[in-house]
Amino acid sequence: MFKAIKITDRVYWVGVRDWSLRNFHGYTTHKGSTYNAYLILGEKVILVDTCKKQYKNELLSRISSVVDPKEIDYIISNHSEMDHSGALPEVVELVKPEKVFASPMGVKNLKDQLHWDVQVQAVKDGEEISFGDVKVQFFETRMLHWPDSMFSWLPEERVLFSQDAFAMHLSCSELFADEVDQGLVWRETATYYANILLPYSNLILKLLEKVRKIGLNPTIVATDHGPIWRREEDIARVLSLYERWAKQEPTMKAVVLYDTMWGSTDLMGRAIADGLIKGGCSVKITPLSGSDRSDVATEVLDAGVLIAGSPTLNNNLLPSVADVLTYLKGLRPQNLVGAAFGSYGWSGESVKQVKEYLEAMKVDVVGEAKVKYVPTQEDLSLCFDLGTQVAAKLKELTGN
Ligand code: FEO
Repeated sequence: MFKAIKITDRVYWVGVRDWSLRNFHGYTTHKGSTYNAYLILGEKVILVDTCKKQYKNELLSRISSVVDPKEIDYIISNHSEMDHSGALPEVVELVKPEKVFASPMGVKNLKDQLHWDVQVQAVKDGEEISFGDVKVQFFETRMLHWPDSMFSWLPEERVLFSQDAFAMHLSCSELFADEVDQGLVWRETATYYANILLPYSNLILKLLEKVRKIGLNPTIVATDHGPIWRREEDIARVLSLYERWAKQEPTMKAVVLYDTMWGSTDLMGRAIADGLIKGGCSVKITPLSGSDRSDVATEVLDAGVLIAGSPTLNNNLLPSVADVLTYLKGLRPQNLVGAAFGSYGWSGESVKQVKEYLEAMKVDVVGEAKVKYVPTQEDLSLCFDLGTQVAAKLKELTGN
């Protein structure tokens, strides 16, 4: 019923499209995702990764369209997170492969997660194994996105199986990224980096260096999510964007996030934004009534300013603002300047709490604005001035 799709002479896509996925551990996936798995058909048959447990039959059906699953000799598990390993135990049970391979941490993770007694063979960083007429080389990519993650490299076909790296959460009928609307492809690539990989930016810089040093020159980058990269210029672009995002050099872009109860914090946010614009920033306002945490994270990816605001509710900041700030703190954005603001009626703790979040993220907090009930024109002028002060600080840092 479900068919495999040929990518190169020996490599087939046998993955699953998950059109309905809208939440990937807190990351809002507006356009679903795919769990890509691949079959290498040579003298030996190798399956690279599997999929979520509930899609096992679709995976097996695609495999069956080109080879009997029982013909699979080896399985490579590049990443043990359950979106790629959930179906692994049942597939192994059915296929009875000669061996399953994973990184040393992958061996441990598979055992810990699956409570499995199947022997998995650990492959070392840089190790190359011959499987009949093809060789596969393995490279550890720790913390991209888990400690066990690794790349598998098929030199004969110049295919890099990169698991989560260079991926996007996007379900579409097209298999290759160059066949999809380009605005969407690059937006989802940025969203994926911002929401999954940003905390590991230092390691990504090291990985890119390693890829250069080894001289990997893929013609296909076969990720575990979303469409596959095959155009030379796209592969170069995604590598270059990863380098830019990983460096997190501040740009003259400001993100102003807030929620509001009766419109006062909204007015303050708008006045701050005007001050930022006056100071030379490009501004993205993300009022939380119309944006979710993943949208905000994507905007922060290439920003130099993060300003956050909340009114006080029951001695606290609003839950919607706490949600986004907690999420952003986990993503560890770097090199930001910012400010905290908000309105209050009587106690007014929210601004201090927002500031604490920003400081925990190591945002250079230039100042704050706090207004009782409804801002006056004078209050709004002070908010405007706060925006210009933050912009001036950013200019100083970026040398603009
Ligand atoms: Fe696609 Fe980290 O799993």
